[in-house]
Amino acid sequence: MESTGKLLRVTTELERRSMALYARFAKLFGADAKLREFWFGMARDEARHVAALDLVSTVLDLEEKLEMASPISLEDATIRRLRAILDRAEAEAGGSRNFPLKRALETALEIEETELEDKVGYLLKALQDPEEYGRCLRLLVHDLGELSYMIERHCDDAALLQRCDAIVNHHMATLRAASQA
Ligand SMILES: [Fe+2]
Ligand SMILES: [Fe+2]
Repeated sequence: MESTGKLLRVTTELERRSMALYARFAKLFGADAKLREFWFGMARDEARHVAALDLVSTVLDLEEKLEMASPISLEDATIRRLRAILDRAEAEAGGSRNFPLKRALETALEIEETELEDKVGYLLKALQDPEEYGRCLRLLVHDLGELSYMIERHCDDAALLQRCDAIVNHHMATLRAASQA
């Protein structure tokens, strides 16, 4: 069983890299105000997760509970998959001014399809106040709704849109369950 500290370090690293990638997309597609706002919103959402995880980690450190066994586990395969997506996207979008919008939207969907946000949610719920958990979930559903809108608008790809709607519905169901609990 892994320590909470280790899990928090890994998730924070992945969230920070997702944030940086979305911020890069905001810059790359910044000529269009709507797209800039959308990508910046996605980056802001990840920044909020990084900050929430950082706070949890600070509190647990003060309580000397960081090295205790984590209540949540994160599969190595999920971590590897997400790192590979981020490595590839950073390499592709890094030096390029011509990175296609469709590729960026597809990449965001791949990132959001990994189980990371679920794990971040569980961590916040298990270790912090449920209020923050609810807030994060509502914002996540909102942002993924925007992602779905952008895919519909800019990609002529029904399968991609369907995948995005599936994760919106998944997080919406979690939100509904959380507000009934
Ligand atoms: Fe996140
Ligand atoms: Fe995310």
